[in-house]
Amino acid sequence: MVMLDIIDLKAHFPTPDGLVKAVDSVDLQIEDNERLGLIGETGSGKTVLGMSIIRLLPPSAIVEGRMIYKGRDLLRLTEEEMRRLRGKEIAMILQNPTTSLNPVLKIGDQIAEVISLHLGLGKREAKARAVQMLEAAMIPEAERRAEQYPHELSGGMKERVMIAMGLASHPSFVIADEPTKGLDARTKAEIISLIQDMTSGRSMLMITHDLAAAGEICDRIAVLYAGEILEEAGAETILSDPQHPYTQGFIRSLPSQGLHPISGSSPSLIDPPSGCRFHPRCPYVMEICKREHPQMIRLERGHSSRCYLCH
Ligand SMILES: Nc1ncnc2c1ncn2[C@@H]1O[C@H](COP(=O)(O)OP(=O)(O)OP(=O)(O)O)[C@@H](O)[C@H]1O
Ligand SMILES: [Mg+2]
Repeated sequence: MVMLDIIDLKAHFPTPDGLVKAVDSVDLQIEDNERLGLIGETGSGKTVLGMSIIRLLPPSAIVEGRMIYKGRDLLRLTEEEMRRLRGKEIAMILQNPTTSLNPVLKIGDQIAEVISLHLGLGKREAKARAVQMLEAAMIPEAERRAEQYPHELSGGMKERVMIAMGLASHPSFVIADEPTKGLDARTKAEIISLIQDMTSGRSMLMITHDLAAAGEICDRIAVLYAGEILEEAGAETILSDPQHPYTQGFIRSLPSQGLHPISGSSPSLIDPPSGCRFHPRCPYVMEICKREHPQMIRLERGHSSRCYLCH
């Protein structure tokens, strides 16, 4: 069953230089109990897409399209209806723990606040559950840690706190934004296994630069480039048989593949290249790529690529 059906989603920002089309006509589906990875280089629109789903973009953002969540269009809910859903049904683990945690509140109290807000528990019960969540997030001495402030924790511990807080109200759909960013290899492996355990039985959109982590955690992967999905397939297929030249380049740029960066730089989101947005950087560019905007081509079940090479 499809839990979230995103249809023709646009998120644009008016700026003095022009309209920034951070998310442009994105179609995505996430099934019950499915983990979808969203990868793409910096500035490709990953966070904006996540924030659009949970409706936390600044008021200046122009968001259009449809996002059908369990039969209801999230874009048509009132702010009040959305507030009730947010956290409780749909939660987001934000990209930057250092700025997302409140520096003057003990971490146990921050998690307890989420719990009492969404589950309606009293103060003492909420605090006890917060400690349980910290334990579930494999934080040693959870009771003592609950009394600490964010600055007393390491990066890996802060990420665990973010995960504990995001999942404290048992949301059925979790958006995790770069949960493994900036962590050393061992901590990263621990966080990956924690996410696997704690999100089992839920749906998740995992936003990341880290294709290897996405490969381990996710069932499917979608590749975002300049606000647009360029390729989508099962996680193993994306890693072993990528069809879009951008995905192929992205994989070659990984440290494990020898760090060969894609030449050129990310395109402007105000005035993106004509035709295929990747054409100025594509090693296989053809005439048609410069003129005509390619549609998503279905290659086989569950694998599609926005590229004329696939025609
Ligand atoms: N409030 C805003 N106003 C104008 N432009 C914005 C705003 N928020 C984001 N953008 C622009 O939207 C684009 C996409 O940003 P986004 O943060 O989604 O990228 P990202 O893929 O998450 O990158 P990263 O991997 O670095 O986190 C960027 O060009 C960014 O500058
Ligand atoms: Mg981001």
